[in-house]
Amino acid sequence: MSTTLESTVGELVAAQPGLARLFGKLGIDYCCGGKRPLAEACRDKGLDPATVLALLESNEGAPAAGVVDAAAMTMTELADHIQATHHAYLKAELPRLQPLIEKIAGKHAGLNPKLTQLPAVFAGLRDEMESHMAKEEQILFPMIRRIDRGQGSGGDFCGHIANPIRMMEMEHQQAGDAVATMRQLTDGFSAPVGACNTYLGVMHALGQLESDLHQHVHKENNILFPRAIEASSAATASSV
Ligand SMILES: [Fe+2]
Ligand SMILES: [Fe+2]
Repeated sequence: MSTTLESTVGELVAAQPGLARLFGKLGIDYCCGGKRPLAEACRDKGLDPATVLALLESNEGAPAAGVVDAAAMTMTELADHIQATHHAYLKAELPRLQPLIEKIAGKHAGLNPKLTQLPAVFAGLRDEMESHMAKEEQILFPMIRRIDRGQGSGGDFCGHIANPIRMMEMEHQQAGDAVATMRQLTDGFSAPVGACNTYLGVMHALGQLESDLHQHVHKENNILFPRAIEASSAATASSV
């Protein structure tokens, strides 16, 4: 696809996964905010759209290190990939980080008083994401795999598949908001002078968690879910 100011941010990253890193650097939300046209996303960030477009065009040929081409996968492959990478990562990382966050909030609030709010925000994100991933793995992804196999429209239990998808997208927004709050509470996941190694390690890990969540939500909101809705509607139409 060609890069234009009317293209949505999510479409651009779906076609050119390497652009995710550039959008991340510019602070442009390409996952939950991925349905907005590039021009609008730039204006919201106070960036000149023409300059950003030129940057994107010069970045298009750059190799996307470690980034999979999600747009080239089948829906089943993509659901399997999301589960094996992003879900597996969160299931290990969320419980690992919780006690470390409680520790630095308890010991080092003198370095940053806002740290006292971090454990509750993190615990909320953990609870929400653990139940969210369970719903995807037990209900939504199996529906999507059935549609991919040509076994119906997937909408037998919850009406049209767009209904559970809408709920998942709302939960993505809540998770994105929680991560944005954590970024704000930690001044951009930075460790002040005098911070211990645990503090440094937690800030680094939270930065990684944010970028993994953006990739994860992008693959679902902008690639897997729209394809599932389209395939479900096509299956319904062909069965009538
Ligand atoms: Fe997910
Ligand atoms: Fe999700």
